[in-house]
Amino acid sequence: MALIAQSSIQAVIDACDMIEVVAPYSTLKKSGANYMGRCPFHGEKTPSFSVDPGQKLYYCFGCGEGGNVFTFIEKKEGLDFADAVKMLADKYGVRLQYEASSPEQENRRQERERLLALLDQAATYYSRCLLESSQAAPARQYLGNRGFKEPVIREFRLGFSPAGGSALLKAATGKGFTETELSRAGLIIQRDASSRDRFRGRLMFPFTDHRGRVLGFGARVLDDSKPKYLNSPDSELYHKTNLVFGLGNARTMITKEDRVFIVEGYTDVLALHQAGIVNAVASMGTALTEQQLKEISRFTRNVYLAFDADAAGQAAMLRALELAKKHNLAVRVVKMPPGQDPAELVLSEDGLRSFNELGSAAPTLLEYQVQTTLSSSGIDSSQGRVRAFASLKNVLDGAASSMERDEQLRIIADRLRLSPENVAYLMKSAPSNDDNEDGGTRRRVLTHEEIAERSFLSLCLANPGEARRYLQLMTEAHFTNEQTRAAFIWVREKLDEKNSGSGNNEQRLVMDRNAREILPELLIRSRTGSTPPEALTEYYFRLCEAELSRRISVIKATVSEGKDTGSELRELYRLETRRRDIIRLIQSGSCETV
Ligand code: UTP
Ligand code: MN
Repeated sequence: MALIAQSSIQAVIDACDMIEVVAPYSTLKKSGANYMGRCPFHGEKTPSFSVDPGQKLYYCFGCGEGGNVFTFIEKKEGLDFADAVKMLADKYGVRLQYEASSPEQENRRQERERLLALLDQAATYYSRCLLESSQAAPARQYLGNRGFKEPVIREFRLGFSPAGGSALLKAATGKGFTETELSRAGLIIQRDASSRDRFRGRLMFPFTDHRGRVLGFGARVLDDSKPKYLNSPDSELYHKTNLVFGLGNARTMITKEDRVFIVEGYTDVLALHQAGIVNAVASMGTALTEQQLKEISRFTRNVYLAFDADAAGQAAMLRALELAKKHNLAVRVVKMPPGQDPAELVLSEDGLRSFNELGSAAPTLLEYQVQTTLSSSGIDSSQGRVRAFASLKNVLDGAASSMERDEQLRIIADRLRLSPENVAYLMKSAPSNDDNEDGGTRRRVLTHEEIAERSFLSLCLANPGEARRYLQLMTEAHFTNEQTRAAFIWVREKLDEKNSGSGNNEQRLVMDRNAREILPELLIRSRTGSTPPEALTEYYFRLCEAELSRRISVIKATVSEGKDTGSELRELYRLETRRRDIIRLIQSGSCETV
């Protein structure tokens, strides 16, 4: 894809009203130069989300999320950077210009566009067959028998592939597509002598990405023959492990309701949509992959698994637990009645109400595991209790929070009539991720150094006059990670430019990924900070001291490795002395007099 020109990106920033962009997600109130509201990235009762309308930045003092207009839209709408720019450009009437790309890039882009166009036209072709051709009468009948109505058939662009052997091949080559292209799109099987359509006489389910572009197909037989589904082979556009069926149709509602139902089958998604449950997607069979969960987590963290009540479905849920912990998702289990999948349930009489009830009663994955273990171990016998006890220890180790674990522990203790010693044993389960109880984003744990570096830099922004002199004396070595180093350079340049009156460099926020990670926080802190300005000097010396200690330990390491020599020891002595002086200065609280 061609790159959006930097000047256009800047034009979009200039045109945006940050308060207006945030307004749909949080009610903001003016507070000093900034606006405050409840954070749209984590659940909270008191507002700690701050928006700076001038610099068009946001930062949450609670969960640490921060960024500019683009990152805000990327995260809230689940878009990538280019799409976020496009969306805001549309909203504010900015015409985007693109950077010229190399001929090879341009070639690749065009090839890709053609494959996408081919797949889209194939979907239209199959869909027309389904709706119009006499050959597809049994397919229409089949869908009708299963209760699927025309609106949902049209929304998902269901189709029918003619039985012959080369109907699509002929239609597509007639439109100027080559056999190579058809094969690359997975639509035909190429043989030495002749090629033929991959999908014949099947009901076609287009696979679309989150923007609704067709990438491949799932094709179902109309009878009981095997395989039930024939899916597109992996191609340059379609990767089975990444695709989440129905995400394009569901994403708006997923964001709006802030939760998603994940089901196993394409038909389950269709049935749920038809019943009005639009925030449903399918995992393409039971094996929910890490990529799929990542894709889904761009839209919500609240995942409801509605898998079939068979062994495969159960196994998939346990796998999902591991992945969910890794990606910080809250997973609940919608327990399907035995022998029914979500499609059968919602299409049955009163089924929608049952599904909704199962949804609102859905236990967390941990509760679910505890329940299943208790009910499958035969805990009426003492053997059963021992069995349950052993496996519950592992189950509890998987708890996402200690609150949840303790609650389940109480239930277990009650059901198994456990002795206090047994309870204590279970209590020793692995400690869980407790930074997450507020229902939201996980905050990275900062080192002491990092906290001091960040505080120093935001104090610099708040007190440019004094800061300039310190910044000139410092190097990147005073900062311990990529982000604070990038921010240091940015802040130093910014204060310099102000000096020479050449305007600000906020626009570079967009450019430098590392700086962009923390600059919103620094800039917003610098305007809302309650730290007294004297602290700047103290922080300066703290960073100097930390930098000296790091140098000292490096030298000590070389000395202890047995390499000599006098010069190293002299340097060590010099650094130690300086460090001690600085520490004394900090402790005396008289930094100001320096
Ligand atoms: P199901 O067998 O539950 O199919 O497989 P389904 O979608 O509910 O279809 P109906 O209701 O019987 O018509 C669930 C999912 O597993 C994958 C598909 O993604 C399917 O939607 N699957 C299943 C295949 O890819 N190939 C198969 O042969 C079977
Ligand atoms: Mn099914």
